Amino acid sequence: MAIFIVLLGPPGVGKGTQAKILAQAKNLAHISSGDLFRENIKNQTELGKHAKLFIDKGELVPDDVTIDMIRERLSRPDCKPGAILDGFPRTPVQADALEKMLAEFNGQVNVVPYITAPESIVVGRISGRWTCRSNGHIFHQMFNPPKADGICDIDGSELYQREDDKVETVTIRIRVYLEQTIPLVDYYRKTGKLVEINGAQAVEQVSRDLCLAVNN
Ligand code: AP5
Ligand code: MG
Repeated sequence: MAIFIVLLGPPGVGKGTQAKILAQAKNLAHISSGDLFRENIKNQTELGKHAKLFIDKGELVPDDVTIDMIRERLSRPDCKPGAILDGFPRTPVQADALEKMLAEFNGQVNVVPYITAPESIVVGRISGRWTCRSNGHIFHQMFNPPKADGICDIDGSELYQREDDKVETVTIRIRVYLEQTIPLVDYYRKTGKLVEINGAQAVEQVSRDLCLAVNN
């Protein structure tokens, strides 16, 4: 049966960083809703133009648009064995929709690692982040610097700072997270699938804890 892992946690805690490592280790697809939106914005699709209106303000893209985008992504063949979901679901409506979608694909959410860290740490991580233009690879000027300034180690493409990583927008993203996504912690705790992970550790240690959590 397919394996679906939902990564929960505040902006900047390291969901994308860990999802990439875990997806490779477990040979599963990595589905990042934020990366999918950014891809659409880069390609100037209708979806991208619509999503940008919300993302630039630090708000959530409406549920219906987001759910349709994820449904399409989940239907692709690379998701047959399962996927790491990074940034989706983010509201109870999205979580309910995910249950229904996975049932269609003969799957279910197996485990929900909830990565936490104090706000001061996540803000520091976001402010030093550099993201690769082609494939969303993630670097940090202090904690994970690229070998050459401004160039992705993995695919050689340009590194950029996300539009929504401005301090004012980050403050809104954190507030939106607390208001709209935190209810999912209880939602998944009740299912017995939630596992808390201390995200305030080095990348390698978080990965080890995460591996243990998903393999149990
Ligand atoms: P999204 O792209 O999902 O952003 P986010 O949730 O705010 O999370 P981030 O990507 O900022 O952080 P992360 O946890 O992935 O951390 P990362 O690994 O990069 O969403 C963006 C926007 O899209 C939303 O605001 C919303 O508008 C829209 N959207 C997306 N999904 C949606 C949905 N489902 N519904 C509606 N709207 C949606 O790490 C951060 C930095 O820290 C990096 O520099 C990294 O190198 C560094 N780092 C990582 N781990 C460590 C560590 N352990 N130690 C030191 N440094 C570390
Ligand atoms: Mg991310």
